[in-house]
Amino acid sequence: MAPEEVAVAGTAEGLPAHAPDRFGFGTEASDARVALWDIDVRPDGQGLPPGRGSVAQGRDVFNIHCVACHGPTGTEGPNDRLVDSEQWDAVPSTRTVGNYWPYATTLYDYIRKAMPQLTPGILSDDQVYAVIAYILWMNEIVSEDAVMDAETLPAVIMPARDKFVVDDRIGGTGPIR
Ligand code: HEC
Repeated sequence: MAPEEVAVAGTAEGLPAHAPDRFGFGTEASDARVALWDIDVRPDGQGLPPGRGSVAQGRDVFNIHCVACHGPTGTEGPNDRLVDSEQWDAVPSTRTVGNYWPYATTLYDYIRKAMPQLTPGILSDDQVYAVIAYILWMNEIVSEDAVMDAETLPAVIMPARDKFVVDDRIGGTGPIR
């Protein structure tokens, strides 16, 4: 039988005629619930929460929560290296926070969501700011008395800031956007 000969009872969208408009499952997400998920931090700092943390406080956070996987100076591993001041032109030999990340604010977005890897979410907002201050200090990007907060973190200029350009190419051999 050709497909067009199959009789389908239903609406124009292919739903059965007796399908309800709504199934009545679940509840409307409250603003408070949405806020729990709405935690992205943008390159310009939009989305950063209140709070603050110093390099000294961050040293403690790092040595308790991060050192096992990233090493005492952020270079030893066993997991990703976080510290490197290598200068590069076309391609770096390592890609770390210190020599590759264009925005310091990404540290907040990433660490809050993903680190420590086995227990993400356990750090307070102040602890996240503090450990960022410490990682930036280890990379010689901020001074030892630096304090990170929603004002100072977006103001940090990362060494790789100018290595990236906005890709505004259109066309080429792919589909035209
Ligand atoms: C159990 C091991 C573990 C612990 C503990 C841990 N990390 Fe990580 N971390 C990883 C792994 C694995 C990756 C790579 C993840 C990936 O590429 O998806 C990573 C990646 C990162 C990166 C991104 C590196 C890059 O350049 O891509 C940062 C920044 C980071 N961790 C910070 C932290 C901080 C800060 C802490 C402590 C609060 C921490 N990590 C604790 C395992 C860990």
